[in-house]
Parts: sequence; structure tokens; C-alpha cells
Amino acid sequence: MSKQTFPVSGQPPQWWADAVVYQIYPRSFADGNGDGMGDLRGIMDRLPYLEKLGVNAIWLSPFYKSPQADGGYDVADYRQVDPLFGSLADFDAMLLEAHRRGLKVIVDLVPNHTSDEHVWFQEALAAEPGSRARDRYIFRSGKDSVPGSGDGNRPPNNWKSIFGGPAWSRVTEADGSPGEWYLHLFDTKQPDLNWENPEVHEEMRSVLRFWLDRGVDGFRVDVAHGMVKEKGLPDWDGAAAMVEGTSAVPREPAPPGDAPGAHTDAEEPHRAVSPVYPPSPFFDQDGVHDIYRDWHRVLAEYGSDRMMVAEAWVEPAERLARYVRPDEMQQAFNFDFLLAGWNAERMAEAIDASLAAAASVGAPCTWVLSNHDTVRHTTRFGLSDPTTFPKGIAADDEQPDAALGLARARAATLVSLALPGSAYLYQGEELGLPEHTTLPADARQDPTFFRTQGAETGRDGCRVPLPWAAKLPGYGFGTAGNGSAQPWLPQPESFGPLAADVQDGEEGSTLELYRAALAFRAEQNLGRGSLEWAEINAPESGLLAFQNGDVLVVANMGFASAPVPEGYTVVLASGPVPAGELATVREVPVDSAVYLRRE
Ligand code: GLC
Repeated sequence: MSKQTFPVSGQPPQWWADAVVYQIYPRSFADGNGDGMGDLRGIMDRLPYLEKLGVNAIWLSPFYKSPQADGGYDVADYRQVDPLFGSLADFDAMLLEAHRRGLKVIVDLVPNHTSDEHVWFQEALAAEPGSRARDRYIFRSGKDSVPGSGDGNRPPNNWKSIFGGPAWSRVTEADGSPGEWYLHLFDTKQPDLNWENPEVHEEMRSVLRFWLDRGVDGFRVDVAHGMVKEKGLPDWDGAAAMVEGTSAVPREPAPPGDAPGAHTDAEEPHRAVSPVYPPSPFFDQDGVHDIYRDWHRVLAEYGSDRMMVAEAWVEPAERLARYVRPDEMQQAFNFDFLLAGWNAERMAEAIDASLAAAASVGAPCTWVLSNHDTVRHTTRFGLSDPTTFPKGIAADDEQPDAALGLARARAATLVSLALPGSAYLYQGEELGLPEHTTLPADARQDPTFFRTQGAETGRDGCRVPLPWAAKLPGYGFGTAGNGSAQPWLPQPESFGPLAADVQDGEEGSTLELYRAALAFRAEQNLGRGSLEWAEINAPESGLLAFQNGDVLVVANMGFASAPVPEGYTVVLASGPVPAGELATVREVPVDSAVYLRRE
């Protein structure tokens, strides 16, 4: 039996403890000026939609000045809005309007790396080896191709980029000679900052204050397990496994041992494992926690209602809990839950482990099924193995069973929205949008596709501009009505029938299911509740069943219908049941979920 209750340790519950946060990927949410690219004005125009949906907060992926080499996760100026998305005035107006509607606003902070077009990196390129400007990044001399030859022709170590290819690029010095190498864990255009340099700390604190002063409610911290690298930048055996296109490294078993909570950072075995990021000398180093303690103090200057949420691909759950200790961040994305897939045993395990780990440090849990880096769960759950985690899907890969995937996605959403804690939704999942699985190669933009020579399909398929109106060009992505430009990524035809205007007010639509589930969650205070596995819970046969307050949640991931327990009535169903007939339902069909209450 697992329980999690709020408030924790006598503190008043903070808004994020049970918030439903809607992730906006600005390029693809709504285009306010008709140029084919989403923008801040488009977001502003759609705030009423989000308010009606019933979410509590929005998180905006980067909209800062950027050459867009990685969809804006390559920041050239942390204090400017890229003209693609509008202006600072547009941001301020959007923030004001969001707050007026009771929506909190979280912005993305990208502290592991800048763009190579950031003024600091430009200065570093123009400066001498060993200079102050170079020390803001991780520049090193190369290894000799023949030891002692002094040619420095080989990279300083064997690390590979997460996006494929080497993690080092060589610069040309001012005199035209081949020079030092710089580290970039991601794209060549995303040089890693040197977090041993106090100036870097000072700058990032100042960036935090810049956005806090404008009134943002929180930060999503990108690659929160990055930044600090092991001293000496040692070669790493795991690098061999990270060859282009495959970063599948066997998972290590979870370590036995103490629950975290203490503030010593040395005693736990080091792990940073996921299908994306295997254990390494560049992720989940203990030193990152000092940075979060520092930032915690910066946020505290603004009162007690600003927050940070960590994007940290680390495991096991105890390791992740270290990011949300009382003096660090407030939340971390629960990728174990995301990775569990449509499988009752894996899901139950992830739920237990995450609740226990979060409770051990007094933090609220989060639940997430999709984001801008993962194949949409509607599509993953329609694959022959609904627990797989492909790195994009192309036309010649296995195609999902769309109807099956959608049925399961709707059910999984009912599960995640009924769990105690905070839930993150990714734009478009409320429409049941699938991944675009047949994007032509020449439309692709994700650097992972190019750096792996296509071995990784990449993340474009989950970043396709949203369909707002079935009959308009670009499915109404351009909200200004003059949206003549094609959306920046082509939309699949399957988006037409899923457009928001088709689903709005339509009984049984995914949009109406989300609205109903969010309203019910708020009314029943499920986010502030607790979880108790029900007697009928039987993950080994595909049935997940838990009680949260007065609500019994049953999800059927097995192979046969399950009876609705005696004395209970269905109040919400993920399957196609007209509202008037809910009370007569006595079965939970396969690939569906229900909320039940005592009669
Ligand atoms: C994070 C972001 C991802 C980005 C990467 C590099 O994982 O979510 O989109 O490519 O960091 O910034």
C-alpha cells in the first residue's frame, strides 16, 4: 500500500503540488501572425482555450533569441525574445493575461549550454587559448594523432554527443591554424558552459532574476543532470555504446540502500541511465546539487511561490529524488512513469517507486506521458510492443494501430490525472494527436536526424503544428486568419478530424474527456489526495486499480473485460460511453479506464 498526502511537513501546500501544467512548444502551438511559425501572440490568443481546458499552469519551451539549431534549446541571448516568436512586450502581455486567467507561467532555462552564436562563445572564438573568454566554455587541446607529435588532431576524450557524432569540435585559431577543441554534449552549435567558472554561476543567477522580475512563476530546468562534469574529463567506456543511432545501454539494477534526504552527496552509487542517457562522467554528478541549492535561494528572494522543475533523465527514483530535496528544486519530471508504457506491472512499479522516493524528501510527485522529446503516447501505445520507446518513427518503420493507441492513451490519461501530485500534459495530447509517423526526410529539422545520418528519426513527429480548425488552411494553425504560410512542419491528414473545433462540445471526443477529467480531478482534489492500491488491483493480469479519496480508478491493460465492483458506479470512462449511460456500465473493457464512486 502506498500513500502520499499533502500538505507535507506542516507546510501549506504550494500551487505546484497538485498543478496540471500544460507544455507549450511555442513553434507549434499557435501562429498569431500567419508566418507558419507559432508565436507568443498565438499563445495569448489561445489562453481562453487553456483556461477552459482546466489546466493550472503553462510551461513554455524556449522562445529566446536563437538560431534555432535545436528548436530554441540553443540560446543566443537569455534575455531576449526571438523575433520569430515576438517581443518582450508580447511576453509581458501574455504573462499578464495568463495571470489574469489564473494560469501560472513556467519558462524554460537552458543552463548546460548556450548557442555558438551567444556573445560569450563568439568572444571565446576570437580570444586566445587559456583566456578568460575561453574559460566560460570547455576548451581543451586535442590529443596527438601520433603521441608526442604535437598535432592535437584527436579530440580530448572519447565522449559522444547525445545527438550522435563526437562531443568535441575543433576551432580554427585567429592565425588560421587548427586549434583547441570545445565540448558540446548536444549539437556542435550548443557548446557546453564551464560550471567551474564563477562567472557562469553569476550570469545564470542574473538570468533567473531577469525572468523572476518579469513575474514568471517558475523554471523548467533543461538537462538538469548535466552542467557539472567529472574532474579531468575521463574517457568513458559507455561511449562505445553510444554510437550513432543507438544509445541503448542495459539498465543497471536499482541499488539497495538508504533513501536520500541527507545533504551529503557522496554516499550514493552514481547512476544516470535511460534509453537516452546512459551512466556517464557528464551526467548526474554530485556537484549539480550545489547549483540547485544556490538557485533555491535566488527563488526564495521572491517569496515562497516560485518553483523549478528538473528535466533529469536519471534513475533509480531515489537518485531523482535528490533533485527535489527541500532546499533544491520543487519538482522533477517522472520519466519512469513515462517509460513504463501501456503495461500494468511496469506502471504500478513506477507509481510505487516514484511515490516512495518523492515522499522520502517531502516533494510532490509528477506524472507525465508525453513531451516534445518523445514519441506521443497515443502512438507508442498503438505499437505491437506498447512499452517501447522509439527515437522517432519513419514511414518504413512499424506503423501504429491508431485506434488502439488512442483508446489506451485516453485510459492512461485518466490514470495519470487521478494520481496524487502534479500532472504535465503536452500540447495536443488533449486532442488525442498521434505522432506524425510519415514525415518526409526533407521536412525534418531535428539535429539528431542529421547527426546520426538518419539512423535516429528524431523528434519532429511530435512537434507538428496543432490543428485548431479542420476546414482552414494549415488546420487553422495561423490564428490571425491570414495564415497563408504553410506551417513549419507539414501536418498529417489524420489531424483534420482531430482539430479542436471538431472536438469542441462533441460528446465522447478526447478534448471533452480531458475537460471532464480535469474538472473531476479539481472537484475531488485528486492531486492533493493519496493512493491506496485497491483489493482488485492485479497488475500481473493487467488490471491497475487504486483508490484516491472517494474515487476508485480502474485501468484495464489486460486481455479480458473486468467487472465493475459491486456497490460502485462509473462516473467517467475513457471509452465511448454516452454520459447518460455511464451509470449502467458494469464492465471495464480491455484498453480502457474508468473512475468509480460508491453508489
Ligand atoms: C533537453 C530538451 C531537448 C533538447 C536538449 C538539449 O533534453 O528537452 O529538446 O534538445 O535538452 O538542450
